[in-house]
Amino acid sequence: MGIYAQTLKNIASEDFVRLKDEHLRLRNSIDIIRSTCINLENQLCCQNCNREQIATCKGRLTSFSYNLISISESHFDFEESIMLPRAGISNKKEAFHNHQQSHQNILKEMRETLKECALLDSHGRTDECYRLLYKRASKLYEEHGRLFDLS
Ligand SMILES: [Fe+2]
Repeated sequence: MGIYAQTLKNIASEDFVRLKDEHLRLRNSIDIIRSTCINLENQLCCQNCNREQIATCKGRLTSFSYNLISISESHFDFEESIMLPRAGISNKKEAFHNHQQSHQNILKEMRETLKECALLDSHGRTDECYRLLYKRASKLYEEHGRLFDLS
């Protein structure tokens, strides 16, 4: 059993609720990215949208960026703080380190993605920015969940 699954078996119920709630918030943030750009699943660009829609997409980008990074940072810190005492057992140290490394990698890749997004947005390609943000975020978080949180 992985360190995360083992941790979940022995934590206080309020910590468990918090973890589940934060996972849900992260999933919701990614879902809102998908549902905001109405052209995400086709290849149409922002010129096909009215001004109101364009303003909504551009406006929400800032809050998406802030939300994803800030929820992730606090969630990862919390997850690591409850796993850390269990990592004292020597054969779990490496598992903890790998899990922590994966968190750091997600934050690094998300920050880079947001920089790319800002550039796309400044060139009027907010549509591409949404596609990129959705694609990267869903891949990174799903992969992490599968490899570390569910194993
Ligand atoms: Fe994690």
